[in-house]
Amino acid sequence: MSASAAAPARKPAAPAIFSPATLARTDALLRKMSLDEKLGQLNQLFQFRRSSKLDGMVRDGKLGSVLFVADPVEINRLQHLAVEGSRWGIPLLFGSDVVHGHKTIFPVPIGLAASWDRGMVERVSAIAASEARADGIAWTFAPMVDIARDPRWGRIVEGAGEDAYLNAAMATAQVRGTQGPRLGTPDRLLATVKHFAGYGASEGGRDHDAANLSQAQLHNVYLPPFRAAVKAGVGSVMSAYMDLNDVPATGNRWLLRDVLRGLWGYGGFVVSDNNAVNDLVSHGFASDKRDAAVRAFKAGVNMEMASYVNAYTHLRAAVDKGAISVPEIDAAVRPILATKIQLGLFDHPYSDPAKAREIAAQAPAHQEEARIAAERSAVLLRNEGALLPLDRSIHRRIALIGPMAHARQDILGPWVFAHDPKDTVTVAEGLRAKLGDSAALAVAAGVQLKRDAPSPFESIFKEKDAPTWDAARAAGEFDHALALANNADVVILALGEKQDMIGESASRSTLALPGEQQRLMERVVALGKPVVLLLMNGRPLDLAWANTHVPAILELWYPGAQGGAAAANLLFGDASPGGKLPFTWPRNVGQIPLYYGHNLTQDPSEQDRRYWNEPSSPLFPFGYGLSYSTFAVTDLRLSKPTLLAGESLAASVVVENTGAVTADQVVQLYIHQRHGSASRPARELKGFERVTLRPAERKTVRFTLGPEELSYWSSATHSQVNEASTFDVWVGTDAQAALSATFQQQ
Ligand code: NOJ
Repeated sequence: MSASAAAPARKPAAPAIFSPATLARTDALLRKMSLDEKLGQLNQLFQFRRSSKLDGMVRDGKLGSVLFVADPVEINRLQHLAVEGSRWGIPLLFGSDVVHGHKTIFPVPIGLAASWDRGMVERVSAIAASEARADGIAWTFAPMVDIARDPRWGRIVEGAGEDAYLNAAMATAQVRGTQGPRLGTPDRLLATVKHFAGYGASEGGRDHDAANLSQAQLHNVYLPPFRAAVKAGVGSVMSAYMDLNDVPATGNRWLLRDVLRGLWGYGGFVVSDNNAVNDLVSHGFASDKRDAAVRAFKAGVNMEMASYVNAYTHLRAAVDKGAISVPEIDAAVRPILATKIQLGLFDHPYSDPAKAREIAAQAPAHQEEARIAAERSAVLLRNEGALLPLDRSIHRRIALIGPMAHARQDILGPWVFAHDPKDTVTVAEGLRAKLGDSAALAVAAGVQLKRDAPSPFESIFKEKDAPTWDAARAAGEFDHALALANNADVVILALGEKQDMIGESASRSTLALPGEQQRLMERVVALGKPVVLLLMNGRPLDLAWANTHVPAILELWYPGAQGGAAAANLLFGDASPGGKLPFTWPRNVGQIPLYYGHNLTQDPSEQDRRYWNEPSSPLFPFGYGLSYSTFAVTDLRLSKPTLLAGESLAASVVVENTGAVTADQVVQLYIHQRHGSASRPARELKGFERVTLRPAERKTVRFTLGPEELSYWSSATHSQVNEASTFDVWVGTDAQAALSATFQQQ
């Protein structure tokens, strides 16, 4: 191999977040403020319900931000205290986890990622932002871009799955949608990219456990989505909870200064995760709260999020003792003040009821987007004998069975605060509305789902699904459901995981369908009826049995408020599924971690035989998803056979809808570098495009491969390299695409 070309010292990714006018106004304000007032801006506290606990702190300028106040009246009350009661009238920054919608609930992030639709994700992020901003919230703690390669980890539902490129694409779309073209766009929010960094790699998928990642894994897999968010102009970054290679992320100077600010040129502020500064003591890293505050601050955490008491109250003593200088405090406060100015909070600090009415009037259009988003997120995993879409003339008696059939809250997934349950369309309601009197619909839960150990968020996610049947009926419910199924032309099994079985502090050691759902499914299938499995969940579940016994499997994720309407459209063919898996779907829990971007072994022909008791291949590959139509991807062309490092080439394919219905396909491009200073993954996604095609319609899809796609961080050189090598390219409809070409980079 010839020497690698001058590796591009990557240019800092970050655009300027603040305008010169904002910076001038910030400095003028900073010059007037006392040390205590500056320190106050570094504190953020929780407040769930109206209470006067914070009033004094707000008036005295001891608080820069509050999270979780959802009531616009309370937001304005506190804001009046800040603006009229404090010396410089610095408004509070109200934050909340607007993760997949505010009033209108869209599919959970893993579902949105499964749409592979950047434009749609940008649109729904913008809607969520407009609804939250109308309520007085100016800041959301999203997007989460943590790579998740262990689906036992509950927070896989909050991100875009296993792949760096897809996570980066979704991060970019979410930041643009949330913030608008620039920070301070009216009706938008300040976004936060989180959790910096490596949180998804917690050992064993146990939430908050330590992550141990090589520099190569960090630079090539875990950090790129954060870099993409920074490049898109994200205005805040949240530090993660866990130890990263023995240094807690919230006290990790390398992450927060060397990489984030140094390498990438990020100019916004960093907020800790909740209590993560105090937790530096629990980690056995800081000696006490004061040490924790100083070390987090020095590492680069500007603002501390805390539930009760901020460790940052110790910063004053640290300044007095000379451990921290006033210029250091100024540097930490500056981006916080600049953000408030750039967001327009000084000019419009209050939520505006007229604006709120205007946004509320758009609710029908927002619900329509939610339905479209749910349809575009769905992934068809199996469809033997083209059972789907159902045929109204044949399937006249329908049994909808399972605990998700009536789910009004569980269909939404985690992180839902401001939504009105009346706005949710359950699967049962969606089907009823679609079918009217044209078909008989019988519905029964069959089994009950319950998380054995209570969730720590019980009090936060207070809305729960009411049981659709009481304990007294429980014994008979199972048989009742079977009787309904036995009387139907087709059975739709609505199974999954409850809202509190996934998300933060909701890791599981198994992927089995929870509760008695597997038994219910097996008994229903034994009746010999056509069965459709409709899944509502946020992680891959163990479908090994279902995949050989149930003819049709449709993954809906937690589809959001219009999930029932979307399900009905998909089941009856008024929408064709076009989503693709954002992770590799394992056969069972023992295969974890299983991801497509692994390195080759010494004998790649053995790739699928590395366990003797079963294949090591997945049940469904990354990027997989069927359609009601069929497609051909042909004619892969590269614009040139060789290129010099630093140059780009174009790849193109023709995709054609060869079936009978209009449908979507996601064309995906993967590469492999055959040799270099380090081994490279067998395949890496480097481009994708979702297209809609009518029957017989063809489209040419083009991709660009250049230094951004072809360079990587090498463990051999400890730097970003762009090497001379042979590269394979595959283009197709999942990570096992067969259509290929090669090129040389010199
Ligand atoms: C803790 C979670 O880890 C984080 O993602 C969230 O934004 C904060 N709590 C605030 O709710």
